[in-house]
Amino acid sequence: MDSRELLSMGDVSKRSGYAASALRFYESEGLISATRTPGGRRQFERNVLRRLAFIRAASNIGLTLDEVREELDRLPAGRVPNRADWQRITRHWRGRLDDQIAALERLRDGLDSCIGCGCLSLQRCQMTNSGDWMATTDAAPGAANLPALLRRPHQFR
Ligand code: FES
Repeated sequence: MDSRELLSMGDVSKRSGYAASALRFYESEGLISATRTPGGRRQFERNVLRRLAFIRAASNIGLTLDEVREELDRLPAGRVPNRADWQRITRHWRGRLDDQIAALERLRDGLDSCIGCGCLSLQRCQMTNSGDWMATTDAAPGAANLPALLRRPHQFR
C-alpha cells in the first residue's frame, strides 16, 4: 500500500470513522482535498487519513475549526507531509498542549471546590465567592475560578 493510493469516499469514511457528510464538510472548509473521477466521484489520497486523525485529535482537545485549519496550513501543499512537517506542528502545539494539561489538572483537582459559577451551592462558596462577587469579574460569565481554556464558548464539531 502507498500513501498516495487513491481511496473512495466510502473507504475513507470506513477507515477514518467520519461520515461522508463530515468529509464533504471538511473538504468544503479546505481541511482535506480530493480529486474527482471522470464520473465526478471524490477520490482521496490515502495520506488524508492522517489529516483526519489529526482533525479528530485536535477537536477532542478543544481546538476550534479555525485553529485546526491554522495547524494544517503549516503542512506543505502538493506533497505528502513527512515526519519533519508533522514535527513542526508538534512543536507549535506543545505550548498549547501544556496549557491544556494544566487546565485539566486544575479541573480535576478543583471540581470539589468552588469554581465561581454563581451557584453558591457549596459551603466553600461562602468563603470563596460570597454574594457571587465573581459575577462582576472579567472572568464571568461562567465558572470564573476555572482557567480561561475551560471557559471558552463551545464550538461546532
Ligand atoms: S461552585 Fe458555584 S459559586 Fe462556588
